[in-house]
Amino acid sequence: MPFTTSVVADQPAGFATPLLAVAVPAGSLPASLAGLDAQAGGALARLYASGDFAGKKDEQALLHPGGAAARILLLGLGKPEEAGRTGLRRAAAAAAKRARTIGVPSLGFFLAPEARGSLTARESGQVIAEGLPFGQWHYSEMKQPPEEKKPALEQAVVLAPTDTADVMAGHQVGAAIAAGQAVTRDLQVLPGNVCTPSYLARHAGDLVRRHGIKGTVLDLAAIRAEKMGGLLAVAQGSAEEPKFIVLEYEGAAGPPIVLVGKGITFDTGGISIKPADKMEDMKYDMSGAAAVLGLFEMLGRLKPMIHVVGLIPTTENMPSGTALKPGDVVTSHLGKTIEIINTDAEGRLILCDALSYARRYQPACVVDVATLTGAVVVALGHVASGVMGTDDALVEELRRAGDRGGERVWPLPLWDEYRDLIKSDIADVKNSGGRPAGSISAGWFLREFVSGYPWAHIDIAGTAYSDREDATRGKGPTGICMRLFAEFVLGRVSGER
Ligand code: BES
Ligand code: MN
Ligand code: ZN
Repeated sequence: MPFTTSVVADQPAGFATPLLAVAVPAGSLPASLAGLDAQAGGALARLYASGDFAGKKDEQALLHPGGAAARILLLGLGKPEEAGRTGLRRAAAAAAKRARTIGVPSLGFFLAPEARGSLTARESGQVIAEGLPFGQWHYSEMKQPPEEKKPALEQAVVLAPTDTADVMAGHQVGAAIAAGQAVTRDLQVLPGNVCTPSYLARHAGDLVRRHGIKGTVLDLAAIRAEKMGGLLAVAQGSAEEPKFIVLEYEGAAGPPIVLVGKGITFDTGGISIKPADKMEDMKYDMSGAAAVLGLFEMLGRLKPMIHVVGLIPTTENMPSGTALKPGDVVTSHLGKTIEIINTDAEGRLILCDALSYARRYQPACVVDVATLTGAVVVALGHVASGVMGTDDALVEELRRAGDRGGERVWPLPLWDEYRDLIKSDIADVKNSGGRPAGSISAGWFLREFVSGYPWAHIDIAGTAYSDREDATRGKGPTGICMRLFAEFVLGRVSGER
């Protein structure tokens, strides 16, 4: 059964549910919960009086008060300045994750109006609709079902006794984003032997059929005919056929936003092979591609008035007798020659061909997203993705979209001095600048293939997956950048940049 969310106008008091989650501000029992507290026989007032719970950020309390709601889960949003979109989305996700681990089939979610702060009703509906499925998400398809199976969490009902229509309007947007986010995570989590370039191409084909959008997939012969020398160089060591996926959603006329996603379905490093430790995580090296595919799921459902093109170069990066070697020189789609220093710097080789392919659309802008460098993890950890580009306004627009979507990005400079890092003795550029400023030299490499449009690059190597569980999700894929892309694209529709 798929997980669904909906909005009703009911009050929390008297709402029959196995679990009622209530997001509350820091401080004492909100006045809006007086009715619920009366129904719960004063259990909420006693909880606050005990001092055990004060609504601090990420604080939780679970009660069994008896009444219409078998359980009440209080979720602290903290002080008004801590709350906001990200805090409320987190609370909704934490509620769904907790409901799933408890093993209830459904839950109710209520935002105490005292905790809404400066959020509009519409925004609250949107982020709650994003957060609930985020927290519910898990992947167990490849495990035998346990002998004693808990009931699956199948639905969540958002209680909006006031501003119901606005909350519903926001919910509709949030639910489409949530569907895209689930697509992104479902693709990310798949192992490299399942999620091959052909698998991603088939998924794109499904999107095209289900939503009536345009799309084509270039196979090996077509990629050769296009002279995509970077993509071909990486693919030449693999038994899997590379693909170049093109998606086009035309909800309006005019120059498109072009989004490019790195689709390395497994990155061994090639001949410059990676150490064995944590190499399994390199199944996530197609997370940029997954974010683009998730965005098209959202576009297909919401049908906003905007023109968006998605480009996904996809291949494995493998060592073999036919693999690319350090020292080799290859000719890119643009015509520039590239000296291969390190075959593990493969992402930039496939992205550069997509960046020059993008010219034919005369794009309004091009944004690429890629698990590109380990160096970005050193710079920003797992808290923010790195962003850089040729256009400060575009970079700032992406930064703001990331803030709205709860997926922060932070700028790194592409100053001219860094260009020296990728100078080659034998070719136009080399594919590795070594350790110093590793994320920036990768950005500079991409910039060499950008011409005629504003461009930005987002490095998600530190944010695409997590090896630590938190209150909102388990280990594994985060769906990163799908919500950022949604906010970016919808921001251009509404003019809210
Ligand atoms: N896919 C990796 C980057 C990566 C690292 C993603 C950690 C996720 C987590 C990329 O292809 C890579 O190997 N980059 C090299 C570049 C270097 C050889 C110039 C790196 O960062 O070490
Ligand atoms: Mn690599
Ligand atoms: Zn890679």
